[in-house]
Amino acid sequence: MNANKALWEKGDFTRIAASMRESGEALVGDLGVSNGLQVLDLGCGDGTTALPAAQLGADVLGVDIASNLVAAGNARAQDLGLDNCRFQVGDASDLHELSDEQFDLVVSIFGAMFAPKPFDAAKEMVRVTKPGGRIVMGNWIPNDPTLVAQILKISSAYSPPPPDGFVSPMTWGVETSVTERFVAAGVPAQKVAFARDTFVFNFRGTPAEYVGRFRDYYGPTMNAFEAAQKNGRTAELQRQLEELFQAKNTSPRKDMTSIPATFLRVTVTV
Ligand SMILES: C[S@@+](CC[C@H](N)C(=O)[O-])C[C@H]1O[C@@H](n2cnc3c(N)ncnc32)[C@H](O)[C@@H]1O
Repeated sequence: MNANKALWEKGDFTRIAASMRESGEALVGDLGVSNGLQVLDLGCGDGTTALPAAQLGADVLGVDIASNLVAAGNARAQDLGLDNCRFQVGDASDLHELSDEQFDLVVSIFGAMFAPKPFDAAKEMVRVTKPGGRIVMGNWIPNDPTLVAQILKISSAYSPPPPDGFVSPMTWGVETSVTERFVAAGVPAQKVAFARDTFVFNFRGTPAEYVGRFRDYYGPTMNAFEAAQKNGRTAELQRQLEELFQAKNTSPRKDMTSIPATFLRVTVTV
């Protein structure tokens, strides 16, 4: 049983991804994607960034560990009539099905950061990128005051401690750790660049309803609620998350939730 795969196949991440489309599209619009560019979207989910890249003319392969999300991505590509975008199951830590130097651009937006062996993931991203190509990662930042690090902070107080040897995905939001991983993969440190960027979650509904979406469909939050329930603390977790979502909501509309979240944008020139 692969716990990493089980976590992301749990629930239905497409129900969260639906609130991430605008920022995904904007991010891709900023990457200089052109006709025929060979793009790998790693940890692609149901195609929030893969599909806009294909709409800009790139040949896109989406790889994700969760087979339900791969199926959802292929269905979305088909609905949009995009025959230059396909999705397949794979693990960012071991991309044995992909060739060396296959892609001009490897994109991984809140994707490869969740692979359990970060040094292997960096090595694989470098291996499949053509010389002169780029790797662009979006990574959440530990202890950041905006949404995602705070969800994690609240949830972890209700969850059992991680197993020995577990490396937090959030370490991909620490510049020194990211540099160390790419240097170990053979990239000079000066070819690893960092910028702070913002991703906006837009949800049609109230902040409390948005918390419900995470509780019912987002694997990591579902696990936190299961752990909280065992200790009779479900209501407390619900209340803390609702307070967080309400505090971070910037939408003036009562029927909309809009929450900006800061992330670390990593650009590696291979
Ligand atoms: C937060 S979601 C982001 C999905 C997508 N990039 C987006 O922006 O909507 C994290 C994604 O990483 C995938 N993932 C987690 N571990 C992975 C691994 N080891 N290899 C490939 N994908 C992985 C999950 O299945 C999930 O689709």
